[in-house]
Amino acid sequence: MKEYRANRTSEMTQSELNHQKRVRELAGECMVILENDGVLPLKENGKVALYGNGARHTIKGGTGSGDVNARNVVTIEQGLKDAGFTVMTENWLNAYDEQIREEKAAHQKKIKKIAAELHKPEINVAFDYPYEDPDAPEITEKEDAELAIYVLSRNSGEGKDRYCRKGDYLLTDREEANIRFVTEHYEKSMVLLNTGGIIDTAFLRGMDNLNALVIIGQTGSEGGHIVADVLTGKIIPSGKLTDTWAKSYADYPSSAEYSHNNGNVNDEYYKEDIFVGYRYFDTFGVEPAYCFGYGRSYTTFELKADSVEQDGAYLRFWVDVKNTGSEYAGKEVVQVYASAPEGQLEKPYQELAAFQKTGLLQPGENEFLMIRFPLAALASYSSEEAAWKLEAGDYLIRVGNSCANTIPVAVVRMEQMKKTAQLKNLFDEESDLPKLSDTEAGREALAQRNARVKSETEEALETVPVITVDPQKIDCEEPEYHTGERKVFEDHFAGRRLTMTDVKNGDVYLEDLVAQLSVEELANLCVGTERLDDDANVVGCASDRVIGAAGETWSGLEESRKIPVLILADGPAGLRLQPHFKTTAEGEKISGGEIFGMSFRPFPENLPEGTLDYYQYCTAIPIASTLAQSWDMDLVRQMGEIVGEEMQQFGVHLWLAPGMNIHRNPLCGRNFEYYSEDPYLTGRCAAADTLGVQSIDGQGTTIKHFAANNQEDNRNYTNAHISERALREIYLRGFEIAVKEAHPYSIMTSYNLINGIHSANRHDMLQVAAREEWGFDGFVMTDWYATQDTSIMGQAPDKYTWASAKQAIHAGNDMLMPGCALNVEDLIQGTEEGTEMILADLQHCVKNILSIGLRTMK
Ligand code: BGC
Repeated sequence: MKEYRANRTSEMTQSELNHQKRVRELAGECMVILENDGVLPLKENGKVALYGNGARHTIKGGTGSGDVNARNVVTIEQGLKDAGFTVMTENWLNAYDEQIREEKAAHQKKIKKIAAELHKPEINVAFDYPYEDPDAPEITEKEDAELAIYVLSRNSGEGKDRYCRKGDYLLTDREEANIRFVTEHYEKSMVLLNTGGIIDTAFLRGMDNLNALVIIGQTGSEGGHIVADVLTGKIIPSGKLTDTWAKSYADYPSSAEYSHNNGNVNDEYYKEDIFVGYRYFDTFGVEPAYCFGYGRSYTTFELKADSVEQDGAYLRFWVDVKNTGSEYAGKEVVQVYASAPEGQLEKPYQELAAFQKTGLLQPGENEFLMIRFPLAALASYSSEEAAWKLEAGDYLIRVGNSCANTIPVAVVRMEQMKKTAQLKNLFDEESDLPKLSDTEAGREALAQRNARVKSETEEALETVPVITVDPQKIDCEEPEYHTGERKVFEDHFAGRRLTMTDVKNGDVYLEDLVAQLSVEELANLCVGTERLDDDANVVGCASDRVIGAAGETWSGLEESRKIPVLILADGPAGLRLQPHFKTTAEGEKISGGEIFGMSFRPFPENLPEGTLDYYQYCTAIPIASTLAQSWDMDLVRQMGEIVGEEMQQFGVHLWLAPGMNIHRNPLCGRNFEYYSEDPYLTGRCAAADTLGVQSIDGQGTTIKHFAANNQEDNRNYTNAHISERALREIYLRGFEIAVKEAHPYSIMTSYNLINGIHSANRHDMLQVAAREEWGFDGFVMTDWYATQDTSIMGQAPDKYTWASAKQAIHAGNDMLMPGCALNVEDLIQGTEEGTEMILADLQHCVKNILSIGLRTMK
């Protein structure tokens, strides 16, 4: 009989309770206070007029594979009631509920109709036609309360980008009217943003009577409680923005041409190059609404830096952080920014070089933080020389609590240029790629940037120390690149049938075992196990052993060679499993149940005798974009630990998370699954998450989507045209940091193409950059169906086509997920022909996969 690790009772387990408690204690710190005239924290928990689409329908996280099937979501209404507030707007909330019920019924009907017409599973159609809340009812009467709270929610998910239109990036007319009403009729009013990403705040900033504006983000199942804790000051929010919130969408440099905006979803030209997020706003002199790193506290802080010195290859100094308020405790995030001197390469005005968060400081209390970061972090990539270079000149180092509020700390002087890495170019940069900095406006902005940095550095020289760098102390990395074809592993143990146990015991090497496997076995091991029953037609739900897990590896050699089966399940906002499933008395799964938070296929009415029920409720943690706002790497690590514990409990080996693509444009449908517009912060968060998960024995992460997965419309076939430098400095940098700092078990490639070649097929990115340059020692997998010609992923290829299975294997993309019989045939035939791949390619991929299998064996 098949056995499952799932619980046999639906009762809440002790570990679920513990995890919820930990999330509640931590997640409030991720919230960012944009505005507060002193109304927060609330002094009393009396009557409150609660409005908005997120008041009773609070969003815990986004949709799609990034959704987590938690037991419940504490809404903001519930959270406030539990905290002792009296909600005076039941009628308004009930009326809105009624509207939602009708809208949902109509939406479900529409999905059923389209699914029948297209002969596709309803759940897949639902991805293409996501449900959208109706506009909330008009507020016409003031209730008997002094305080009004308006919760504004927005949701998004994979497969679809957001739109710069009312109801999405922009507020609807009704929302504006309602918010105006509350600011005019209630003594105090605030707006809470229950969003996974950026929205337009122009209207809100224009409301003179609005007392507070807070990004509460999406914090998982305990959302409502966490919000109540923050509003009442039980938890002190200390979040900072991880993105630039522009005054207007048009201010983002990629806005005019991004995704569907210009009608071309096939080709995306990254004209802004390295000038992404604050790197653009600061350099091009565009003032944002709220800058990167910004966030208020209930108290105030003073920063003083001291004792700057070169410590080997590092710059080191101390920052004294003092809580200068008299009433509230608080935590501060010390951020270090560096402005590089004018040189041969274009430079952004400044870049984040380091950050650190204090502990909770009581009024009057101070803490000394030691800040230390590698001087190599100040280098820029020159594609002309294929090298990271610290150009000669003065680097201005500043610390502060946002990118716009800093004080100079030191001037780091490079008397001559120093290379910090000598690499080779890998990305076939297109010579005619248009660049913003090549335009007249671009050249002008850069000239002004250089003049500004020069004068600011000169001014700083009067007050801060100069650290003249000893270049001898900084290494120049020179990776060893492999040349020539891979070698076939020879069988040295002919006559003895080797197993993974022999390898685990240290009797033989993995290569010895792999050398004994037939081409057919190798090909099967490189392909996941797509199941062919009805539920398998749902993207990301192909595991047979842990129900609702996204996939698993081939079990054909489990008995004979003791090769373990790896179970893979989604994230990043927790562990995505099917919360409730049924099996026959013999353990065969009965089709049906809720997946992706949607119950499109109910369990059959006539269940066989002896049917068994199983439960896998997982903890929904904050979505990545909210989590990163904590700027607290220990907090992120602890969230990873929670996930790791649940993976172990339910038998999952690899978490298909964290997601770590760069927030290039606010409309990317999956930004909520990613951390930031800044690659350094992104890399640190992914490393912390990974360290948390991997602190639990045998559990590993899969950092994704490698790389430049910045557009969801037409996601399988969009070609990102990016310069080598922007790839290295912006889009790969986070992955590099995560690999070097935390050694994730695996990497998932993205669907898109980069400069004409699918990421899944990019040998230079997977083998050369990840493995040879950064030392990645796990295995790489494709994103779901990336190499499978199947209608499941929606639109048929238009300009570009599918990624190739054979080229993926040759590229060192070890595992094709979720896999299909055709993939296996393809690999066998490819090996025999030896054109796009050879036997050694297959063997190396299997060795990579098994090296992770080994780590999961007890
Ligand atoms: C998503 C991945 C996810 C996979 C498995 C794909 O649609 O892009 O992020 O891990 O499905 O569910």
